[in-house]
Order: sequence, then C-alpha cells, then structure tokens
Amino acid sequence: MLRHLRYTVGMRIERIDEQAASEAQLRAIYEIVAGNEREALPHWEPTSWGEFLGRIRAPLAWRPTTRWVARADDGTIVGTATLALERRSTNRDHADIDVDVARRARRRGVGRALLRSAAEQAGAEGCTIVDAMCREEGTGLRFAEAMGMAPKLRERRSGLRFEDLDLALLEKWRAPVPGYELVVFEDGYPAEWLERLARAAAVMNTAPLDDFEMEPEVITPAELDELQRSRLAKGTLFTTIAAVETATGEIAGYTGLLHRADRTIAEQEDTGVWPQHRNRGLGRLLKASMLLRVLETRPWVRGVETWNAGSNDAMLRINVELGFQVLEWWWNIQGSTEVVLARASAERQA
Ligand SMILES: CC(C)(COP(=O)(O)OP(=O)(O)OC[C@H]1O[C@@H](n2cnc3c(N)ncnc32)[C@H](O)[C@@H]1OP(=O)(O)O)[C@@H](O)C(=O)NCCC(=O)NCCS
Repeated sequence: MLRHLRYTVGMRIERIDEQAASEAQLRAIYEIVAGNEREALPHWEPTSWGEFLGRIRAPLAWRPTTRWVARADDGTIVGTATLALERRSTNRDHADIDVDVARRARRRGVGRALLRSAAEQAGAEGCTIVDAMCREEGTGLRFAEAMGMAPKLRERRSGLRFEDLDLALLEKWRAPVPGYELVVFEDGYPAEWLERLARAAAVMNTAPLDDFEMEPEVITPAELDELQRSRLAKGTLFTTIAAVETATGEIAGYTGLLHRADRTIAEQEDTGVWPQHRNRGLGRLLKASMLLRVLETRPWVRGVETWNAGSNDAMLRINVELGFQVLEWWWNIQGSTEVVLARASAERQA
C-alpha cells in the first residue's frame, strides 16, 4: 500500500481503485473536474455527473485507466489525475494524462506531484510519449510547458444552440445526393454493419494532425462492438448516420452524435467522408440530416458541441455555416515520458 502513497508537506498523493471507490469519493473528484470546467466556461453545461460516473463504471478493456488523488492534511481531495493507456494495435507507446487541481490548492506543487505519479506509471507501462489536452486560456498550457510538454495541435471547441439553427439551410442541405443513401443507427449497430463501420472509422485518420505525432488509429469490429456496449452501459445514447454508396454498399462517409438524458448538450463525434467521395455535398447532407434527426427524436437536446483542428478548413466551414460559435481553443500537447518525469520530479523553485 505504501508504494501507492507519496507525501509532500501538507499533501499526499494516493492511487485509488476507481471500481472499489465509494460514490461519495468519486463525487468529490467529479466536483474538482466539473468545477474547473465551470470556471473556464461558465455559460456552457459541463460534463454531467452521470457521464463521469458512467465512464468509470463501464470501462473499455482497451483503454485501462489509473487514477490518483491529492489529499490535503485533513483528507479532503484537492486534485486528481488519470493515466489512460492505449491497448489497441497502434499508438501503444502513447499514454494520455489528465490533471485537475482545485482552484484553492493551485501553485503549491499539487499538479506536479500528480503528474509525477502518472508519468512514472506511463514509463513502467512502456509508454515513451505522454499526450494531454489543455485550454489555451488558463493555467494548463503554462503548467504543461513547464513540465516539458509542447503544444502540437490547436483545436477549436465550438457550440451551437438549437434556438440559433437555420432550419431552411438544413432542409436545403438535406437534399439527396445521387448515388448514395443514408442509413441511420440509433443506440446500436447491427452485427452485419460492424465491419463496414469499423473500416469507415479509419477516415478520421485523414483529418489534419498538424505537429501531433501519432500512428493511424485502427478499431476492429469487436472493439467497435465493445465501444457501443460500453456507451449504452454508461447511459450514453448515440445516433450515427452513414452515407452508403448504392453501387458498392460501402460507407462513403458518416457522422456520429452522443447524447445523454442528463445533459441538454449533445457531443459531436466523428464526421468523415473518404477523399474519393468529397465535394459532392455528403458532409453537409450528413450534418444537416443529423441535426434534423436529433430535433425530431431527442427532444431534450438543446445544443451540440464539436471539436475541430483549427487547420481543418473543410469541416470548420460547414460548422460555421451551420452556426457553430467558438467556445474556446484547446491544445493537444505531447512530451517524452522521460522528460516529463524528470521535470515533474524536480524540486519546486522557492
Ligand atoms: C494546470 C494545473 C493542473 C496546475 O496545477 P498546480 O497544482 O497549480 O501546479 P504546480 O503548483 O504543481 O505547478 C508546477 C509548475 O507549473 C507551472 N505553472 C503552474 N501554474 C502556472 C500558472 N498559473 N502560471 C504560470 N506557470 C504555472 C510553474 O512552472 C509551476 O512551478 P512553480 O510553481 O515552481 O513555478 C491547474 O492549474 C489546473 O487544474 N488547471 C485546470 C485544469 C488544467 O488545465 N489541467 C491541465 C491539463 S494539461
């Protein structure tokens, strides 16, 4: 047990078993994460408690996650970090790290100590690269740079409230594209589609990465099946619309949206059209069809948020035309595990 504890003056880092943790303990962790979200974006609905809990209770076998908390002397949780590993076939040398420290406990070495534990574990798991995401505004980027990580890919987080929707534009974009038909999947993928949907997911490897280093991602039909089951187990509903080439039955492009009964904001997932099917209006058709479908079938959803690389002109143009507004800018950052560990282990400068 001692191995899992690290003390510094007035604070200790503890690795916790999320599956065994009480709901009260997890709620305290959620309050820190959601509190940081509310601080950065007070007018936007944060991740719901149900989703946070669901991610823990319905984990993906190929994304094992470890969590640490930082406790003040009185036992209160003042910070948390997670390390998520990639156990699919590619990018197994990458580890994803997230660090959150409560506002009242910042700039006292809590973030550094949490990061040190996570980077140590990343190294022990054979991961040579650590990835993270942080807001451009706020403390994250300065912390990450001080810890030896570098910004690699700028992403725009955008939001669209349904009261701002241009229904006439959606109807116009919904006009059929000859040679393609739309197939809608709601809250489940039939077994006979899993292979095609898994193949289609590779289109996301054609999205710009700028300087972010990663191998193309591969998801197998079995992994996709596990993903959809885990979503439903954590109470996340989903709609996927595929544009299927009539002549071949293959998926030319698709778009996906995640929605939860406890959040009025839906999350845009992947949208991609294979290069040979581009410039025919499929991207607009897919996005417009999705919004109209959600308005019809998920009446509690009042808006959507989406993430795009700042350099993704094609997708951003469609989203801006739909009315998406910038919520905030984020950076995907990366660092060598060795360097991050060395920086996080260095004594604080007085
Ligand atoms: C980023 C965050 C985790 C840092 O936690 P913290 O406990 O305050 O960080 P530390 O005290 O360990 O700081 C370590 C070093 O990072 C740098 N740093 C941290 N916060 C900084 C700030 N506001 N301005 C400039 N540098 C900063 C400093 O170099 C600091 O060392 P120093 O205090 O000896 O100068 C915290 O501010 C936070 O939770 N922010 C919101 C969520 C977030 O952005 N997470 C990071 C995602 S990558």
